Amino acid sequence: MNLSEMITRRRSVRAYLPEAVDEALLAEVAAFTEGLTPLLPGAEPVWRIIPTADASFLQKWQNPQFFAFYVPVTAEEDGLLNVGYMYQQLDLFLQGKGLGTCWVGLGWPDEKKAPPQGMKLAVMMAFGYPAGKEAERKTAADFKRRGPEEIADWVDDRLEPARLAPSATNSQPWFFTHDEHDADVLHVWREKLTLLKKRTHGRMNLIDMGIALAHLKVSNPGFVFTRPDVLPEKENLLHVGMMKL
Ligand SMILES: Cc1cc2nc3c(=O)[nH]c(=O)nc-3n(C[C@H](O)[C@H](O)[C@H](O)COP(=O)(O)O)c2cc1C
Repeated sequence: MNLSEMITRRRSVRAYLPEAVDEALLAEVAAFTEGLTPLLPGAEPVWRIIPTADASFLQKWQNPQFFAFYVPVTAEEDGLLNVGYMYQQLDLFLQGKGLGTCWVGLGWPDEKKAPPQGMKLAVMMAFGYPAGKEAERKTAADFKRRGPEEIADWVDDRLEPARLAPSATNSQPWFFTHDEHDADVLHVWREKLTLLKKRTHGRMNLIDMGIALAHLKVSNPGFVFTRPDVLPEKENLLHVGMMKL
């Protein structure tokens, strides 16, 4: 399956059947995630499956299982970027298999499900068999997103996969500028949050950036991401890195 095909078809699924996902599919998940490489070294995340009954949520969920994604305590920020980058590819993979998924920021495994040694919870993801048939998205017009002119210094069709990426509360914190020396090199920026918004969106903001980069990676076989030692700043934006498409 070509993961990039799922970018215009996927959606967040919030209504599920109560049946657990079968073992064969879970084995495929394990094999798929084995093959994922992080965006940034030294901050590799891990996943666990948590029964819905062993976690608390602000919403009601029918699916009997969730993924919990964990990041190393010592490299939390890079870990969060990696979580979005690696597990959005899992999201596309699962939706391509006919499963529903939904990133869930407002979920917490119970104390008896302690994080792996040296790790802390980043975010969870609902997954399972969708209940009923929510209309599958067919085109970019089925998405509620900012326009292409709002996410970059100039409209560039190559950024369409990032524009359609999911983000917490659909906040779409990304912005892209073209390098003045090479238009195939783009600078990746994220919204600078106010102190108040940082409390509610800080963690999610980095995951969102990883998600958008995952969409660009699966759409561009030549995708390369680098991060200079010194990150430039703009008034309302923080530099995340540079990518070649
Ligand atoms: C990091 C992250 C956290 C999210 N947390 C929640 C959540 O707690 N509850 C929920 O219903 N949706 C959550 N979402 C889903 C977003 O609301 C959704 O992706 C966005 O509105 C765009 O819609 P779409 O995914 O259907 O394209 C989250 C998404 C992301 C990326």
